Amino acid sequence: MSIMKEVKGVLHFEGVALPAVAEKFATPCYVYSRAAITANWQAFSEQLKAPHKICFAVKANSNLAVLQVLAELGAGFDVVSGGEIARVLRAGGKAEDIVFSGVAKSDAEIRYALNENIGQFNVESDAELERISEIASAMKVSARISLRVNPDVDAKTHPYIATGLEDNKFGIPMQDALATYQRAAELPGIEIVGADCHIGSQLTELAPFLAALERMLALVDSLAEHGITLKHIDMGGGLGVTYTDEQPPQVAEYIQAMLKRLQDYPHLALYLEPGRAIVANAGVLLTRVEYLKFNGHKHFIMVDAGMNDLLRPALYQAHHDIVNVASNSSAAAITGDVVGPVCETGDFLGQNRTLRVQPGDLLAVKSAGAYGFTMSSNYNTRPKPAEVMINGEHMHLVRARETLEDVWRGETLIP
Ligand code: LLP
Repeated sequence: MSIMKEVKGVLHFEGVALPAVAEKFATPCYVYSRAAITANWQAFSEQLKAPHKICFAVKANSNLAVLQVLAELGAGFDVVSGGEIARVLRAGGKAEDIVFSGVAKSDAEIRYALNENIGQFNVESDAELERISEIASAMKVSARISLRVNPDVDAKTHPYIATGLEDNKFGIPMQDALATYQRAAELPGIEIVGADCHIGSQLTELAPFLAALERMLALVDSLAEHGITLKHIDMGGGLGVTYTDEQPPQVAEYIQAMLKRLQDYPHLALYLEPGRAIVANAGVLLTRVEYLKFNGHKHFIMVDAGMNDLLRPALYQAHHDIVNVASNSSAAAITGDVVGPVCETGDFLGQNRTLRVQPGDLLAVKSAGAYGFTMSSNYNTRPKPAEVMINGEHMHLVRARETLEDVWRGETLIP
């Protein structure tokens, strides 16, 4: 859902005109709408009530204020590092509502998670299972676990964000899952609570989710035959959003299809880990046009945000719509690439776009609320951008733009 609207030719987020945000906090700048995050969350929470659970995938957007908004709405959280656990707790999330995924959890992270008594670990390998058991036993606690199994289902998405195929590094192969569960049942310090999978991200069809669910239920049946009963299955995240003309299933359709299949399993709760579907369309990246350049055969619209601020176009050839915040611009239309200041040919935000622009204009890169800021870097010694949360008529700076001191904090000159 998008809370973006045009008022007198100027793009607004809720009650705030985007140029006012740029004036106050400069560019590049990520802007999020609290109302949009809330509405996106509620689309899930209205469909899936306790004992089912929705765990926001923190990697999509880990700004403390975003996590705070979701924690206040009663969200659970899917994390992949000790750092993300700390963020969730700092933002007011509850430890018991955290599920800890991630392929290479360190001793320190496991110990920290057990100390905080998080909800559960999604265990990605036999070796990790043994390690969690050792650490939990030594701490005289019990770790609640799900095994993340790999259902070997083609998510039909970009190869870098497909995770449920045999070739991927994620999860325990389905054919090994029973043996690993049997091992888990014997290990000290381990309490089996569920099973987990995540087949990929930005899925635009229902079929792969249902195929994965079918395989997970076959596992549930086979575990039951061996005396291992589960309390829930976690189907991960992955529901796609509309960046251009994709037509992913509606949240209700996606959840109801799974709940319908689960009618035969009344004791099994459904967990989901949506990231993108909650935040992507609740955020934009604001950037200012610096120069227009024509090299004899191609036009370039050079802006002040680069691949270090928004990596998705460079890394996945992802398409984000880019619009002039003032739609009534009288500038001439140009067709060219929207490029940043970073010294890389791959540094583009959009290719072959037609825009009415002139230097000084403000552009909005849409659907940038997920995997935008969280994938940003300081490449080219570029301070990370500011982040602003819009709430009705108010704008809150929820992350100050980095200073150069921030960028080289921790570095020292040698004597
Ligand atoms: N659960 C697990 C275990 C995951 O690995 C992921 C995403 C999610 C949930 C959330 O998936 P979502 O609902 O957001 O699709 N940087 C890429 C996306 C990487 C996704 C990695 N895992 C991008 O910008 O498209």
